[in-house]
Amino acid sequence: MKNSYKNDYLTTSELRRRAKSKIPKFIFQYLDGGCNDNINLAKNTKEIGDIELKPFYIREHKEADLKTELFGHVYDAPFGIAPMGLQGFMWPNAPEILAKAAAKYNVPFVISTLTTCTVERINELAGGRAWFQLYHPEKPDFRDKLLKKAEDAGCPVLVLVADMPTKGYRPWDVRNGFDMPPEISIRNILQMMARPKWVLKTIYHGRPTFAIMKSFEDEKEGRFYFDHKLDERKIAEIRDKWKGKLVIKGISSEEDTETAIKLGADGIIVSNHGGRQLDPGQSSIAMLGPIVKKFEGKIKIMMDSGLRTGPDIARSLASGAEFTFLGRNFMYAVAALGAYGGEHMIRSLEMQLKQVMEQISCEQVGDLKNHLVKRADC
Ligand SMILES: Cc1cc2nc3c(=O)[nH]c(=O)nc-3n(C[C@H](O)[C@H](O)[C@H](O)COP(=O)(O)O)c2cc1C
Repeated sequence: MKNSYKNDYLTTSELRRRAKSKIPKFIFQYLDGGCNDNINLAKNTKEIGDIELKPFYIREHKEADLKTELFGHVYDAPFGIAPMGLQGFMWPNAPEILAKAAAKYNVPFVISTLTTCTVERINELAGGRAWFQLYHPEKPDFRDKLLKKAEDAGCPVLVLVADMPTKGYRPWDVRNGFDMPPEISIRNILQMMARPKWVLKTIYHGRPTFAIMKSFEDEKEGRFYFDHKLDERKIAEIRDKWKGKLVIKGISSEEDTETAIKLGADGIIVSNHGGRQLDPGQSSIAMLGPIVKKFEGKIKIMMDSGLRTGPDIARSLASGAEFTFLGRNFMYAVAALGAYGGEHMIRSLEMQLKQVMEQISCEQVGDLKNHLVKRADC
């Protein structure tokens, strides 16, 4: 292991605990929470954990190879960093730290529309391979400006979010005034004072802003103009304008998958936004099964929500996902370990995934499917 690998934090729960002790409470609650009663959040991890893999022990096999081709690029591992807004509020320079780690380890980094660093800077740090996630703007000219920004910065993939027609009901965020932009109440200030290292680092790096939005006049008016409700017309217009690969994120049904294919999307991310939107929704692994069964080979099927470990990534790939993304894991690691957090998490996941693959005699990521005991589709 290189010296950047911290042996003290070998599991995601250890990193989560450390992150909790390092960032202000109201910010940790924003990162950690799901929605309503956190039922969907818990279901995601529980149902992934139920997926079992079958080993073949009496068989010759070579070292496991994690390399995975996606949209014409061969990544070093079958997972990437999911888009997360407000990253720099959670830990100073978090998007920069994660983009650099993604470039170093050749995995995709997805920039959120609401991140705290410019697209140009992130894409430079991510070696020109960062994907851009778009919340659908209300005004077509604003949408076009955002698309142009992503195109000019050289982002190869656009990730359009489908699963936010409304804002998820997150009682802790309402109570904490955690909105866009976050409210600075006396209680929040006291919670910040309880994390002096975070405060000093934030002062040192400067107050984070919604860097992408800052260049548009909408922010100056004090609110963001997004119309998150997608329909076929809006997607068709984007498909028409965006020359790169188009991925729809937040797909939770066979019906929406069919529409995504019809409208010419190149990929989907089966996702429930990490359990942050629809508490009575299915877990992401439960949705994946029927979608793979019906549409395998017709569109790139990726997945996120609830993956915490290398074995979880193996479970998802065995269930038919062609690529995976993780959100909270990466922010826990950055909040816990600062500048080393991104690469620590990537290395840890790679090591765990490789161990599982070699344990079950699986040489290639694409062969994990042969080890699935039972798909979570019923
Ligand atoms: C704090 C936080 C902020 C997020 N912000 C965004 C965002 O700006 N855009 C987006 O498409 N998804 C966003 N998501 C959802 C993630 O992209 C991803 O779907 C989710 O985190 C995956 O679940 P996991 O955290 O269990 O890995 C956010 C998730 C979290 C936890």
